[in-house]
Amino acid sequence: MSFEPRDAPYPELKNSHTMAHTGRPWTDFKPPPSAPVWAAVEGLGRYYILLAAIELDVFDALQRLGPSSAEDVAADVGAAVEHLRSLLDGVVALELLDQFNDVYELNDTARRYLVSDGPATMAELIAVATGPHDNWTRLAETVRSGRPSMPIENDPAAFYVPLVEGTFTTMFRCATRADLKIRYSARSAPLVLDLGAGGAPWAIAILKACPEGRAVINDLDGVLPVAQAKTLEHEVADRCEFRPGDFHTVTLEVDHYDIVVLGHICRTEGEAGARSLITRAFATLKPGGTLILADYFVDVERKFNPHAVIMGTTMMASTERGFCFTHQQFSEWIREAGFGQLRLVEPIGFQQSFVAVKPR
Ligand SMILES: C[S@@+](CC[C@H](N)C(=O)[O-])C[C@H]1O[C@@H](n2cnc3c(N)ncnc32)[C@H](O)[C@@H]1O
Repeated sequence: MSFEPRDAPYPELKNSHTMAHTGRPWTDFKPPPSAPVWAAVEGLGRYYILLAAIELDVFDALQRLGPSSAEDVAADVGAAVEHLRSLLDGVVALELLDQFNDVYELNDTARRYLVSDGPATMAELIAVATGPHDNWTRLAETVRSGRPSMPIENDPAAFYVPLVEGTFTTMFRCATRADLKIRYSARSAPLVLDLGAGGAPWAIAILKACPEGRAVINDLDGVLPVAQAKTLEHEVADRCEFRPGDFHTVTLEVDHYDIVVLGHICRTEGEAGARSLITRAFATLKPGGTLILADYFVDVERKFNPHAVIMGTTMMASTERGFCFTHQQFSEWIREAGFGQLRLVEPIGFQQSFVAVKPR
């Protein structure tokens, strides 16, 4: 019996439409949704909705007022009611506030991350975490030329002072929790070197756990006052020496420190700069000393950890040499510098550190 190809029973269902089987095993052609495109387009609005809510003090106001109408929040923060309602609805769409019967309320995410005294507040970080906003509008040009038009290296203190103030809470929580994995508190009187320390979250966490410990805290001249203020606030300043200067060239002792911290400083430095920092850390550690290298690491295929991948793009957009590197690259560089006992720890979610020991 011969087989006559026939049209679909319904004229509107031609073979090129859904139900046409192609490939092996059979696949139905169905146009993909445009959602990923919209997600990217909306990314800009989503970010600025959150930023405006922070700038208007919306989260702190709702913490003070409790569940409130748009009218009450607008009166408290000094805003136009209908515009504020539109903004609040946007924040609800981002799942960063709850709304029921026109009453807005903090949800658990806002309580933890967005009120300024939340236990893991990111409130100060939001404006600066993206890098200078103008660099994003010129990204295509940066990719063409291989250099951002306004790299943060042009005025590092202006960028880093608010950044390290904004990241301190998270990094301090990470560094404190890291003791469970690294056991730095088991050392009786460690001498710590914190290079590019920012607010010195690592040095402070270690000194608080080790009452006999001391630290040398390095950063650029204009950023070091943040570490001075934070160490005073945490009552460890009297055990710190503040050493200003470029971490690539600042004088470092040989075979001297028990712990060296490279906390989120490698990803702005390019491969040569990151490897040089690891080599410097090796030289300045005592035999038996520990390297802690914290950063955002990309998986080996550069696609399974979008947070780190996009952090890498963020570095490319706003720094002269910055890219994120893979776990594999860092492991090789750390081993090639001479370290042993290499492991990766994640003291809190999305905050990973390599830990390695200089052989005795
Ligand atoms: C992303 S922050 C990390 C701060 C801190 N280590 C942490 O883990 O939270 C990078 C720090 O490196 C400092 N930094 C950047 N370039 C530097 C350089 N060439 N020499 C010394 N410090 C530098 C910045 O001022 C900033 O404090």
